[in-house]
Amino acid sequence: MGASDKRKPWSGADRRAAKERRAGDRRSPVPLVDVPGERRAGAGDRRGGGDRRSEEGWQLVPIEETAAANFNQEGVLLAAAVDARTRAQARYSQFMVGAALETADGQIITGCNIENATYGLTLCAERVALVKALSDGQAVFTRIAVVADTPSPTPPCGPCRQLLWEYCGDIDIILGNLSGPMGRFRLSALLPLPFDARLLG
Ligand code: THU
Repeated sequence: MGASDKRKPWSGADRRAAKERRAGDRRSPVPLVDVPGERRAGAGDRRGGGDRRSEEGWQLVPIEETAAANFNQEGVLLAAAVDARTRAQARYSQFMVGAALETADGQIITGCNIENATYGLTLCAERVALVKALSDGQAVFTRIAVVADTPSPTPPCGPCRQLLWEYCGDIDIILGNLSGPMGRFRLSALLPLPFDARLLG
């Protein structure tokens, strides 16, 4: 080892790197306890929201055939979402989304995103479909299709995942664009450690 290779163990660069690691720890929503059956995230797994698409939760997971699959073919559900999207009230973002929620008895309830001038009160397409269905007395759901006019799939946002989980359970989520399906997920793959009524004691 030459003289130039010798560095004090805590050089400025080391200290900066350690500080960045610690800052990364604070920012990361990593579980504090090990969850049985779950791989504990390591420092190398921690990334910003922008590149989460490559994480395990984003892998396509096979969807089991359900009885409901016989009611509405996936194409029918997607077509309902495409149609609902045309009614999106998206004058602020110009990002039009349609959703179609399927009930266990084969009905399809649609929704589109509805924005307003305060921005923050925006209603996502998925939630509109869900509250329409619930207020109509529907209670058992099997699948939801979500469609936007984009080359990448449009997954439900965090609040929508929470509400879908609470009211629909582990349903299938079909993501598509105007040309057809692009990805299929179970909700549990998108919301792996949910908070719900079971935890309220
Ligand atoms: N949006 C949805 O309706 N569903 C999604 O899954 C993602 C986002 C809406 C909300 C807002 O009106 C617009 O898309 C841009 O975020």
